[in-house]
Order: sequence, then structure tokens, then C-alpha cells
Amino acid sequence: MRLDGKVAIVTGSARGIGRAIAVELAKRGVKVVINYAHSDAEARKTAELCRAHGAETLLVKADVTDREQVREMVERTIARFGGIDILINNAGILGKARDPLEVTDEDWDAVLDVNLRGAFVVTQEVLHHMKKGKIVNIASIAGKDGGTVGPHYAASKGGLIALTFNLARHLAPDILVNAVAPGPVDTGLIDEETKERLRKLSLTGQIAKPEDIAHTVVFLLENDHVTGELVDVNGGRLMD
Ligand SMILES: NC(=O)c1ccc[n+]([C@@H]2O[C@H](COP(=O)([O-])OP(=O)(O)OC[C@H]3O[C@@H](n4cnc5c(N)ncnc54)[C@H](OP(=O)(O)O)[C@@H]3O)[C@@H](O)[C@H]2O)c1
Repeated sequence: MRLDGKVAIVTGSARGIGRAIAVELAKRGVKVVINYAHSDAEARKTAELCRAHGAETLLVKADVTDREQVREMVERTIARFGGIDILINNAGILGKARDPLEVTDEDWDAVLDVNLRGAFVVTQEVLHHMKKGKIVNIASIAGKDGGTVGPHYAASKGGLIALTFNLARHLAPDILVNAVAPGPVDTGLIDEETKERLRKLSLTGQIAKPEDIAHTVVFLLENDHVTGELVDVNGGRLMD
């Protein structure tokens, strides 16, 4: 698919991986809807970075767990750009790191609500308008190997991977659906000691930059013969 002139919603693009995806799309002439829930100033910064590449942007504050807010985001996108070609379900939270027996109902619900139900709500609302296009879900290595945050985060990402496969089956051939499973990504929040420990776990001796994930998303959007795939971006960490 040629990206130039297409319309994309990138959830959770105020910062981190979502921002990098928004900017990579902007560089390729995509009209970008920048979604976020709280971080007004950072979302405006993402919009500024996108516009520096000549892209049209729409900034929408909408909590992905709130169907009414999501519906309004979709309606505003249609009103402004006339359609939706691309959805990137990136919004996510880590939740509190917990051992299985420590996870409270609140911990579980908070993480599953954003990472899994939120992605589904946005997808459902977008699908009322997307007749042809691409969806990419940002999962995690935790959805494959269980990770270190806790069962709530692992289950949310494992669920997102399963959701990707289900949607790919049902929406082909008009809409292709894939997921990316990043290992640790340097979004500026990891201290040096943790970075050093994480670097040693990958074959590349590095942790990913947000742009590494964004480039993988671009590959999946441009390619028209990949659907129902989960692409690992973890420096070979899962190889035995
Ligand atoms: N960083 C990593 O090492 C890593 C590894 C594997 C997978 N991932 C996944 O990659 C995605 C992005 O992670 P990141 O590290 O870039 O996170 P981040 O820097 O914390 O950014 C998260 C983004 O999601 C938004 N968001 C959170 N809750 C939301 C909600 N309810 N509705 C709408 N937007 C919401 C945030 O906006 P507000 O600030 O406005 O709330 C922010 O823009 C997540 O799904 C994460 O699970 C990250």
C-alpha cells in the first residue's frame, strides 16, 4: 500500500513508541490522528514533529477504554479527513509490577482494560468506517514469553496477539491485520543499570529504539501480502 495521502489513527502517540510511529508515518505523507489520554503538552509536541515533515495532523484526547470518546475520535477523523485507512493500536500501560499472588482485581482490570479491551473498542469503532486498510497492534514480548511485569500485563498482550489473529482471518482480504512484539524499548524511562542488564539479553547487544518499532510498522503497512503475523523486534532475544 502506498502510504502517501493515507489517513492513520495512532493511539497513544503523545510519546514513546506511538510518537515514533506517528513521525515515521508523517515522513511518508500520511495524515496522522494523534491520540492520547492525559499528556496534552507531549501530544502537541508529537503534532509539531509530524507537521515539521509537512503532514496534516489532528490531535484527539480520548481514553481508548471509553467507547463514547473513541466514537467521537473516529467521527472527528472522518469529518476532517473523510476516511480511515490505517489503525495502529499502540496505547498501553504496564501497570504495577506484581507477582501472581499480589495482583489485585484492580491491577488486572486496569491493564486488561487499556491494553486489550481498549484496542478492541477502537478497532470496532474504526471498522464501521474502514472498508479497506491495515491494522497493526503493538503487543509485547511478554505476550509470548510471559515477561517480567506480571500476569496481568502478559495476559493483556497475549490476548492482543490472539485478537490480531482472529481479526486477520475475519477481515481479509480487504483489511490486513498484524502485530509487533517489541522486547524492551528505550523510551527514555529506563535507568542505565537496567539498560545494561537488558542489552546483555539480546544478540545485538542493544535495546530497541522507538524508531526500530516504527520502521517495522511501516514495513507491515507497505506490504500487501502479510496478514495474521506477529513480528518480533527483540534483537534475537528469543532465539535458542
Ligand atoms: N517500552 C517498552 O519497552 C515496550 C515493550 C514492549 C511493548 N510495549 C508496548 O508499546 C506500547 C507503547 O509503549 P511506550 O513504552 O511507548 O509507552 P509510553 O511511553 O508510556 O506511552 C504510552 C502512550 O499511551 C497513551 N495511553 C495510555 N493509556 C491510554 C488510554 N487509556 N487511552 C489513550 N491513550 C493512552 C499515553 O498517553 P497519555 O500519557 O496521554 O496517557 C502515551 O501516549 C504499549 O502498548 C506498550 O505495552 C512497550
